[in-house]
Parts: sequence; C-alpha cells; structure tokens
Amino acid sequence: MLELHLELPSGPGRRAAIETALRDSIRTGRLVAGTRLPSSRVLAHDLGVSRSTIVSAYEQLNAEGFLASRHGQGTVVADVPTGAAPADDEDLMGPTPTWDFRPGEPDPTSFPRREWMQSLRRIVSDPSGTAMGYPDPRGRIELRHTLAGHLARTRSVVTDAGSVFVYGGFAAGLGFIAEAFRRAGITRIAVEEAMLPMHRMVLRVAGLEVETIRVDNEGIVVEELATSSAGAVLVTPANHYPYGITMSPDRRAQLVSWADLADAWIIEDDYDGEFRYDRRPIGALQALAPHRVIYAGTASKSLAAGLRLGWLAVPDELRPGLTAAANLRAGVSSIDQLALADFIERGQLDRHIRTMRRTYDTRRRTMLERLDLGDADLVVQPCVAGLHLCISVPSPELEREILVRAEAADIGLLGLSTFHRAPAERAGLTVGFSRPAQHAFAAGLDRLANVFAG
Ligand SMILES: Cc1ncc(COP(=O)(O)O)c(C=O)c1O
Repeated sequence: MLELHLELPSGPGRRAAIETALRDSIRTGRLVAGTRLPSSRVLAHDLGVSRSTIVSAYEQLNAEGFLASRHGQGTVVADVPTGAAPADDEDLMGPTPTWDFRPGEPDPTSFPRREWMQSLRRIVSDPSGTAMGYPDPRGRIELRHTLAGHLARTRSVVTDAGSVFVYGGFAAGLGFIAEAFRRAGITRIAVEEAMLPMHRMVLRVAGLEVETIRVDNEGIVVEELATSSAGAVLVTPANHYPYGITMSPDRRAQLVSWADLADAWIIEDDYDGEFRYDRRPIGALQALAPHRVIYAGTASKSLAAGLRLGWLAVPDELRPGLTAAANLRAGVSSIDQLALADFIERGQLDRHIRTMRRTYDTRRRTMLERLDLGDADLVVQPCVAGLHLCISVPSPELEREILVRAEAADIGLLGLSTFHRAPAERAGLTVGFSRPAQHAFAAGLDRLANVFAG
C-alpha cells in the first residue's frame, strides 16, 4: 500500500491534473528514478477518481517516458533529466571515495605526463601559431587525418579524414548525432537494456524517443529490435557496458542485416575496444557495414576522461547533417586536438595502450583471484576485455545491501540498477579495476573482499 502525495487543483480535467502533478514531481526530482507508484486501484481510491482515469494517466506518462511498467513489478518512475538546479559550488561529479572501484576511468597516476607534455610543448611553441585560432567545428584536419589512419590500423575502421568528426567526448558526439537524426526525420532510437544513463538522457534531451531492447549473452537481441520502429540503435559490441559481453559474430551479422532491411543506423560505441586480454582486440563492427555504422571512439579510457576528446567515423550520407549540427558550435580545444595528433603520430598512444593493457590484465587477474569468494550468491562473470568486472547477485536487495556496506567502508562501486531504466531482472555490481592507483590496489582489494564477504 504505497503512499503518494499529489497536489491537485480543484475543478474538471482530473486526468490532465494528475498527469501534470506527476510530471512536475518527477521533473523537480521529488519522485526519483525507481520510485514505485501506488497501483491504479489504490491511487484512484486515494484521489477519489475512477480507476480508468489513473490507468490512462499512467499510460500517457509511460508513453512520454516519465514512468515505466514492468510485468509483476507495477509502475515506477523512469530515469529522466530533472530540473533541480544544483548549488553553484556543488561538484556535479560528486565526492570521490578513497577506494574507487567505480568503473569508468583510468588510473590518473598512469597518464603519460612526460610524453603528453612533449606533444603539448611542440604544439604550443610552434611559431606559426596555428593552434591558437578557432578550430574547424568538425575537428582539426590534422587530427582527423591522423585518426582516420589510426582507426583503420588499430580497429579496422573503414574511413577517411573527411568522415571523421572530433567532439568533446562521446557524450557530446552523441548529442550531435541525435540532432542530425532529428533533422533527417528519425524520431526513435533503440538502446541496450542496460547502458550508461547519461547517454539515454542525451538522446532524450535531443528529442528522440528511446526504446529499450533486451541483451542476452551474445549481445542485443536483434529479433526484438526487428519488431520496433526505431530508425537507429546504439550498441557497445566490443564489450557491452556494463555486462561485459562481446557481441558474437552471428549477432553482428544479424544486426547489420536488420539495419539494411530497416534502412536504419547503428551507432557503435567502441569506448574501450583497445583493451582485450584473451587475444587481439576484435575489429570494429563498422568494418562490416561502413555505410550503416557510425563508429565512435574516445580518449576517456585510453588516456584520460578529463581530456574530453572523442571522435566519430560517419557514413557519407550523414556527413552533411553532422556538419550542419557542428557548425552551430565552436568545436573543442585546437591545442589539445593538435597535441593528440602529435602524440599519435609519434607512436605514443600505441605505446601507452600496450603498457596499460599489460597493467590492466595483471589487475584483472589479481581481482578475479581475490574476489573468488566461493560464495554462491556472488557470481563473478567472465571478463576478457575492458576495465571492469560484472558480478551477479540474486536480488536487488542484496545489491543494495552490498552498496551500503561499500559506502560505509569508503569504497566506490556501482550497482547494475544504475544502468537500468526500471527495475530489471539482473541484479549485480560493477567493479572497475582501472582506477585505484597501483600502490593502493592490493589494500583496496582486501577491503573490497571484506565488503563482499559481509
Ligand atoms: C559506455 C560508455 N561509452 C562511452 C564512454 C566515453 O564517454 P566520453 O567520451 O563522453 O567520456 C563511456 C565512459 O564512461 C562509457 O561508459
């Protein structure tokens, strides 16, 4: 019997008033994502309206994406951007735990400072001053050339400098893609059942309807995708985020066939494709269908998220739309773009990735051994790529309990619920092995193992 307080103005138009009250409560953050709402019968009784009024209001808010319904779990508040304004001096990234096992970022102490400074010095001291002017909003042509060669060589991406666009990270690039889609009349995009919530928000804020598609142990379920009317899909084929599944060759082929048949676009988010430990990294999906796939890469995992540099390799047909969208902005730092081009040209990025791949592989093995707790409740999923492990637990309650214990121990972890739009069947934890500095890694692992052991 869930309690819900709603302020409704008196007068006619009950259903619209209920919808407005719910929408406002969600937008302002009073009702946070995941909050369960009373059943239609209970709310109808509480508000003195007919049950069909509540059913219609819930349906409308479901369609708008404010609410989500799951069979057997009732109606919950969906993950939507809230209008609650943060205080001016509040750090929106939140506090950093002492033992930071949240997935997402490389160890800051591993950044190749000396080599990066060499590149930066060369660019800044260039007497021509070429780095100091406004950049081409699509990205500096020097970097676009370098990236085209680098992506072809390291990820088998089929592209050229004219098709490469540089943005302030993938999140920014995704916003531009969404804008280009809208201009092209695409209104609906499919996404994987679990994903980085910020990317879902970027799509929504850009005005696209977002449809969630199931993921099994081969990747996104293309049969489900085929029943949707989405004109595009966003996927993480090299290493599903956050489950850590590599999309199988069959599934890749099916996905491309779907896109050809449905005349749809695939966005391949290759955020950590450089890091594969069982064999050589798998080539990009884009190589199977360069005319259908927008390839996206980033410096956030291989170098540092703080650089805010990401890139797209786009099919020819999308170039005008993306150029039009990019033209409205001033682009990203010329100095950093040229430094990255120099860094890649001098072989430093390849060298750094090679070193980090070895480091992360050692950390991954150490973590797998240390967290092998022999506890049937905690099942560490196989992990052969990327920068984090995924651990399944049998219930959302246990996931929450472990997160509470971790917080009390000043350990940063993320639960799988963070990545779902609504309560999901899969409960678990994601544990990054990239972030704690080398000197603190072993001690952090001991603390983490204690948290898991309860
Ligand atoms: C799934 C996924 N894609 C892409 C990125 C990279 O995003 P950005 O380039 O905006 O830092 C991340 C970073 O956390 C990620 O988790």
